[in-house]
Amino acid sequence: MAAVVLTFSACAGHKSADNTPAIPQDKALEDKVEKTLKGLSLEEKVGQMMQLSIEVVTLPDKSGLDMEKLRTAIGKYKVGSILNVFARTAQDRFFTADYISKIQELSLQEIGIPCIYGLDMIHGASYIAEGTFFPQGINIAAGFNPEHARTMGEITAYETRAAMCPWTFCPTMDLARNPCWSRFWESFGEDPYLQSVMAATETRALQGDDPNHIGKEHIAVSLKHYMAYGAAISGRDRTPAYVSPSDLREKHFAPFKACIEAGALTLMVNSSSINGVPVHANHELLTVWLKEDLNWDGMIVTDWADINNLWTRERVAANRKEALALGINAGIDMVMEPYDPTACDDIIAAVKEGLIPQKRIDDACRRVLRLKYRLGLFDNPTWDVKAYDKVACEEFKEAALAAAVESQVLLENSGILPLKKGLRILVTGPNGNSIRSLNGGWSYTWQGTAEEKYTAWYNTIYEALKNEFGSVSYVPGVEYVEDYMAWKQEKNINIDAAVSAARRADVIIACVGENSYCETPGNIEDLNLSANQKNLVKALSKVGKPIVLLLNQGRPRIINDIVGLPNIEAVVNMMLPGNYGGDALALLLSGKENFSGKLPFTYSKHVNDLHTYDHKVSENVPTMAGAYNYDATMYVQWPFGAGLSYTTFEYSGLEVDKSEFTADDVLNVKVTVKNTGNLPGKEAVLLYSSDLVASIVPDVRRLRSFTKIELQPGESKVVEFRVPAKDLAFVGADGKWRLEKGDFRLSCGGLGVNTCCTATKVWKKANI
Ligand code: BGC
Repeated sequence: MAAVVLTFSACAGHKSADNTPAIPQDKALEDKVEKTLKGLSLEEKVGQMMQLSIEVVTLPDKSGLDMEKLRTAIGKYKVGSILNVFARTAQDRFFTADYISKIQELSLQEIGIPCIYGLDMIHGASYIAEGTFFPQGINIAAGFNPEHARTMGEITAYETRAAMCPWTFCPTMDLARNPCWSRFWESFGEDPYLQSVMAATETRALQGDDPNHIGKEHIAVSLKHYMAYGAAISGRDRTPAYVSPSDLREKHFAPFKACIEAGALTLMVNSSSINGVPVHANHELLTVWLKEDLNWDGMIVTDWADINNLWTRERVAANRKEALALGINAGIDMVMEPYDPTACDDIIAAVKEGLIPQKRIDDACRRVLRLKYRLGLFDNPTWDVKAYDKVACEEFKEAALAAAVESQVLLENSGILPLKKGLRILVTGPNGNSIRSLNGGWSYTWQGTAEEKYTAWYNTIYEALKNEFGSVSYVPGVEYVEDYMAWKQEKNINIDAAVSAARRADVIIACVGENSYCETPGNIEDLNLSANQKNLVKALSKVGKPIVLLLNQGRPRIINDIVGLPNIEAVVNMMLPGNYGGDALALLLSGKENFSGKLPFTYSKHVNDLHTYDHKVSENVPTMAGAYNYDATMYVQWPFGAGLSYTTFEYSGLEVDKSEFTADDVLNVKVTVKNTGNLPGKEAVLLYSSDLVASIVPDVRRLRSFTKIELQPGESKVVEFRVPAKDLAFVGADGKWRLEKGDFRLSCGGLGVNTCCTATKVWKKANI
């Protein structure tokens, strides 16, 4: 029996002890930063803090740059950064490289400082026409295999560099705590540990190992959106979150901390507010938690127009100048003021009036310059993009396909899957013949629209199944309206046509879910799957043919009234698996590949019963001995971690090496996993802990470690987890980390074992 020690650490990074810088400083580099800073006027420093959208300097016919406007932006306002995809749609990498080079040339001519260009490369180089698209973050999380976060990061960095762009606004690591949230799919799910492991792995892959000297195949990240964006009470984009101080530090902060410790160079801020304070104006969260407590010398950028939002929407400032002062004094270093460089004038006036101290401007500008030096932009403002000849190569495609295979989750299977050869298959539903819905938002365009021209050569579900099985037909039954502002609307409802086709088929693949969307246009009023699509499935269920319900969606739409219908023989949640998602599905449904994905979130059953797996014990206590039944029953459709395989795994021998421990100990946990079925398979092995008694109501359980193993039929492996006891600590009512005396239960694969903490420890420092 081979022993496997394969657990992932979110925290292995550059920061070792308290007060050491999160990113070790490079003296020679810092000297250059200081020298450059000293030579700058107030206007030049403020310009470095300004970021405009490319639209401001684009010709009206979108054929190229408007050099006049560019000269004003850079020459007059000294703007230090530009963002966004040209003409709002993915461009050829050489075209992109060409206009970024022109910006660089002008920037060096006018101010002697390179410009930093940033693009949203969300699941691969998604704003480059030829980019390799991976599954979205939620799928990568479902794979429970950080290897895919690594390949995604490395390939994204390479292909982004291949278009002359050194900076991306990624990874998205807001915990997906509200399933209504329109960016649920961008993140690595609801759990802080899984999120931390995946995001930190991607950060290292995007940036490489030395944050002071980003190599020529790497780019800078921007962690986003700091923080609790995915916990908005309403579930709507950019709306307020109310989060307990414990959860804020213990859960929402964790992935950002892990990534900063992994060397992340920049961070973008949540557009909304937490507990009534807009994050862009929160000195405690921006300056104290990030820059002081973590001793992080990276750069903080606002999200889109969010300084404006401080006065026009959030009403915490009376005008733009006040808003700029509020944000910059809170810790903002770069202002994404997409359309209006005259904001520079307001910053300058605010400094002159004493509203912003000069030393804050120096600090912000220093952070921008440091980033540019770390990226090597002073020495190599442009590079030979022709040398990047691996873009979209076979190896990259295989990596994206492998990620798509591991990312799909089999939730129910009566045994109909894998499908036998020779069956007549009907593909139906609005998602059955669409690349757009496989990719989701941030794919070629912000909303994931306009894909035809880029994606004709990728296979939709229908095309991939036809290639794999031969006898496949497609009748949509329901179609989406293509206009992104109307993506929730459906057209050409012809359920009868689908039903007649179903009568002629042996098996029905009902492809339902959502079309692509992102941010505010993705807001919904009702988490239920659309009525038309439910009606389609209800009608199909009456035909009497076996149905595979295929969910292609960015968030868990409620389906409790269709999932148990007669003839629903299997349910697959493919989420948003990207350009290769159809091919991956065909491999899975045919049995050439085995399912191994698990849900990285709780799939809720009812719209008013939304939970996360790490809920409080008291949220799910239907009956209590000796007390009245207060009916806190929690119903879920499928729990966090749900996911089947074509084989079966048996867990045995869960052991922990210490029956008693204190904060300085490390718990070594072992479990044996055996493939008891007839097919090879991969299994994500998840280790949880439960604090059985604590001074604040404990979470019912928390994921503490995981690994993914592959087992042949009959094969067993011993999985060993190494859990530092301090990882079991929580943040108490007083905001302090504490590990309290008492019993803990460790659980894995349905087994449990207890161990006892013998001494309470309360930490004085903010981070442990
Ligand atoms: C989004 C960010 C994105 C930025 C720049 C904003 O609307 O919230 O995630 O990075 O635009 O495109």
